[in-house]
Amino acid sequence: MDGLEIDGGKPLQGDIIISGAKNAALPLLCLGLISDAPLILENVPELADTISMEGLLRHLGVDVTREGEIVTMRGGARRYDAPYDLVRKMRASVLVLGPLLARYGEARVSLPGGCAIGTRPVDLHVRAMQGLGAVVELADGYIQARAPGGLSGGRVVFPMVSVGATENALMAAALAKGPSELVNVAREPEIIDLANCLNAMGARITGHGTGTISVEGVDELHGATHAVISDRIEAGTFAIAAAMTGGDLTLQRTRARTLDALLMVLRETGATVTETDDTIRVVANGRPVAADITTDPFPGFPTDLQAQFMAMMCIADGSSRISETIFENRFMHVPELLRMGADIQVDGGIAMVRGREFLTPAPVMATDLRASVSLVLAALTIEGESQISRIYHLDRGYSRLEEKLGNCGAQLRRIKAS
Ligand code: EPZ
Repeated sequence: MDGLEIDGGKPLQGDIIISGAKNAALPLLCLGLISDAPLILENVPELADTISMEGLLRHLGVDVTREGEIVTMRGGARRYDAPYDLVRKMRASVLVLGPLLARYGEARVSLPGGCAIGTRPVDLHVRAMQGLGAVVELADGYIQARAPGGLSGGRVVFPMVSVGATENALMAAALAKGPSELVNVAREPEIIDLANCLNAMGARITGHGTGTISVEGVDELHGATHAVISDRIEAGTFAIAAAMTGGDLTLQRTRARTLDALLMVLRETGATVTETDDTIRVVANGRPVAADITTDPFPGFPTDLQAQFMAMMCIADGSSRISETIFENRFMHVPELLRMGADIQVDGGIAMVRGREFLTPAPVMATDLRASVSLVLAALTIEGESQISRIYHLDRGYSRLEEKLGNCGAQLRRIKAS
């Protein structure tokens, strides 16, 4: 497995162009199932996860072609089963459930299984499909869902906010017979992007971005061309990198409005943050000052930036209380940061971080996507060479990471596994 060697201690300076959002691209790709007409998606990042999703869509019979960051899909599905060996690699595969049910009235999707950050059940996805008239059984490790006469609009109230379940419900309701009301839904920018693309295909969706979405079902959807929104988590990752390396980075093709919670906290830590419509500039002002965060669904502090922020607090002046409320096991980066000399104590979903002036070089191991990048950020502050193994996790969510950081003064080198 590939590794990264990082020779840190240098400030990051320069410009980074932010790629399309992984967590918008994955549900948008699933729309290739919901219509036979050509759907052209632009700004689709080339990542292990998007490539996996394109492979699953081909397995289902969709004609998928990629030219750079433009993915064209046509023809719809010819099969309705998403097998375990494809789904286990990427839990977002469960997002084929809604479009398959809506368009073909049947779907057999493997239960995704857990991952490093938690058990990650799909009960809310199943309940949403049932709320729209599907008959769902869980058998042999699969979700077996049918709606022979098509889905029927209905009122689906989510007991807790779920990004993926909201996305499945939205795609299913778009072709259901009659109106649907989805209550206590996720409000992430990626939800808005999915709804906007569905509306461009002829769906009739309103309220996206609020806690309640209304959908008037239509008989069929046509093709469209849609550009994936910018990746706010990639942008947030680099914003934190600037603040913790004493750097000065300007992030291009990004939308500051989608990062308000992070930018507010970065200012609290002493960084200077300036925004335009599509850029964010972060200038460090010496050693960061410690600050507390609690992760929350959008517009709160994103759980996907918790590990990166913790890396910054490890070298901050003061103590920081980090509360992870979304996933039950999202502190896998802690043992690795401790190897680098960090002072962190975990009690359930709370981590107390006492900032140290410096961390120390150490070989560490990546465990999940965002934990991996938090180790990269920590290593970028350390004089001397650190090694990070199992960086295939990074390749799932960050395109051309070494190139982007290398262009801003970072010294890192990918080590091919022998
Ligand atoms: C999406 O995952 C993202 N992935 C995650 O990003 C992100 O961390 C998460 O939303 C929260 O923002 C994609 O968009 C592909 P949830 P998702 O359903 O949809 C529980 C990354 O690093 N839950 O909002 O799976 C669940 O266990 C990834 O890019 C149920 O109990 O997240 C969690 O505790 C990691 N039952 C909470 O809800 C369900 O049926 C929120 O999960 C579904 C979820």
